[in-house]
Amino acid sequence: MGGGKLNITIPLTWPKAMIIALLIGLAGPAIAQSNDAIHLGVQTCGASTCHGAVQPWQNSTVLQNEFIIWSTHDAHSNAYKSLLSDRAKRISARLGLGPPEQAATCLNCHANNVPAEKQGKNFNIADGVGCESCHGGAENWLGTHVSGVSSRPELVAAGMYPTEDPIARAELCIGCHLPNPDRLVNHRLLAAGHPRLAFELDTFSVNQPAHARIDDDYRQRKPDHNGAKLWAVGQAVSARQQMRGLAQTMSRNANLFPELTFFECGSCHRPFDSAIGADRVRAGLGPGEPQLYDANLVMLRAIADAVDPDIAQRLKNQTRALHRASRQGAGAVARAANELAELADKLATRLNGTPPDRNDLRAILNTLASRQHAAKYVDFGAAEQTTMAVAAILETLGEAPDPGALDQLYDATQSPARFNSRGFANALAQLRESLKK
Ligand code: HEC
Ligand code: HEC
Ligand code: HEC
Ligand code: HEC
Repeated sequence: MGGGKLNITIPLTWPKAMIIALLIGLAGPAIAQSNDAIHLGVQTCGASTCHGAVQPWQNSTVLQNEFIIWSTHDAHSNAYKSLLSDRAKRISARLGLGPPEQAATCLNCHANNVPAEKQGKNFNIADGVGCESCHGGAENWLGTHVSGVSSRPELVAAGMYPTEDPIARAELCIGCHLPNPDRLVNHRLLAAGHPRLAFELDTFSVNQPAHARIDDDYRQRKPDHNGAKLWAVGQAVSARQQMRGLAQTMSRNANLFPELTFFECGSCHRPFDSAIGADRVRAGLGPGEPQLYDANLVMLRAIADAVDPDIAQRLKNQTRALHRASRQGAGAVARAANELAELADKLATRLNGTPPDRNDLRAILNTLASRQHAAKYVDFGAAEQTTMAVAAILETLGEAPDPGALDQLYDATQSPARFNSRGFANALAQLRESLKK
């Protein structure tokens, strides 16, 4: 969503509020947390007559028990508490950060870390990643929201975050779930003991778990999206953010080493035996050349292959150029990454407007399961993304494959340190067979 040029037609029937929201949206990816409003705190949203009901309400448009779902099933309500754990203390001590629950580096992702003057009287940092971390500071929309008279576009214009839009949602989640320059789980954090971040929009939306009831009433207010659409748009936005993050970090970096969080971990972290060497070559790189993480680009290419062969070819060439650039230096990588970010941005908009249809999804699935493609999944990152992709697509197609194949895919991608590339290739072969039936 680059700012600047405005070449869209706005239907005349739209309320003014929606148009304003659209224009604000064009200014750049908003992070819900950082909107200007005062954040009123989870307690304000979670009152028993609001979103704090014990059971879902039958005659209400929304479930009303979102607070209970969030506080009992959603890891986000635990995000601040995680900073009090021994693991967090160890990570923080190794980095010389002091108490993690006071370190902005940690709080930016593990809580709704807005400045003191933006915290309302019920605000409590210990709530972790609360309602307003995702839905936006409530100061300016709570009034009309409670009165029940405001439409969705009006609420969005008043600062409620457009979580129903796949691009906006992906940007929101990725703000904390993938490496990006503002909130970066960098290689130092990883080496100090922070879990490796992995993200896929559909899987993570389901796992959160979702607290919206998609019914007729919902569809009147908001668009509904199938899992494969969330997956496809999520890949495009992930690729774009990763490439932007890589470009920015490269441009700022004055270290001997580049920021390793943007590389495929398994390039360096695997057992080795100098007598045997490695025949592991991918992405046009030779043995011993660490490879940038490109799993989202690989997925995006499988999507583009089905929906737009021209773009697919450009993606292929530019991805190769990116890997080549990693031999040439930081400036070359930044340029190649920026070009890829632009291409991914185009695809995000396009896939959001016209998601892959059933035929496209079949084609994508066949690509991901193909022998030729499988040969490329010798690293963990692409294997992990393939697994989540296959699950999302099969679910949307309503097809149950050989359950053994899916289980095997999950098994092979349990952990980067124990990644079993042969097991993964076998699982894909089994999937290939089951798709033929
Ligand atoms: C403000 C930062 C932030 C935002 C925004 C955010 N998350 Fe998270 N998320 C976290 C943190 C931190 C954790 C880890 C919580 C813990 O266990 O300490 C987490 C955990 C999760 C988990 C559990 C992961 C696991 O391995 O158990 C899921 C699923 C998840 N988030 C999905 C999402 C989705 C979907 C979105 C977007 C709609 C999103 N998150 C937006 C910070 C965020
Ligand atoms: C860019 C956002 C981000 C930053 C910065 C960040 N975290 Fe996290 N953290 C996450 C996410 C997301 C997860 C969940 C990972 C998953 O399971 O997918 C997580 C997980 C964790 C966990 C494991 C929680 C569990 O339940 O197992 C600990 C501990 C942790 N983080 C501590 C820290 C500390 C300490 C800092 C500061 C030094 C920090 N984090 C900075 C996003 C972040
Ligand atoms: C990690 C991000 C995240 C957090 C935290 C979060 N939500 Fe949500 N919420 C979403 C997403 C994504 C959706 C689904 C998209 C949509 O319907 O807009 C959603 C949907 C909803 C809906 C359904 C709206 C409808 O139109 O049917 C309600 C109500 C809601 N959330 C309330 C809450 C409340 C209350 C809290 C805190 C207790 C909360 N949410 C915490 C991301 C989040
Ligand atoms: C270019 C090579 C390279 C890449 C790529 C790389 N690392 Fe590292 N990693 C290192 C080096 C070097 C160390 C320091 C080892 C030491 O302290 O002796 C290290 C240390 C670590 C450690 C501390 C434990 C240990 O083995 O020392 C963890 C955990 C870690 N890396 C995780 C990751 C993750 C996760 C990724 C992918 C996002 C990654 N690394 C990518 C080279 C790499």
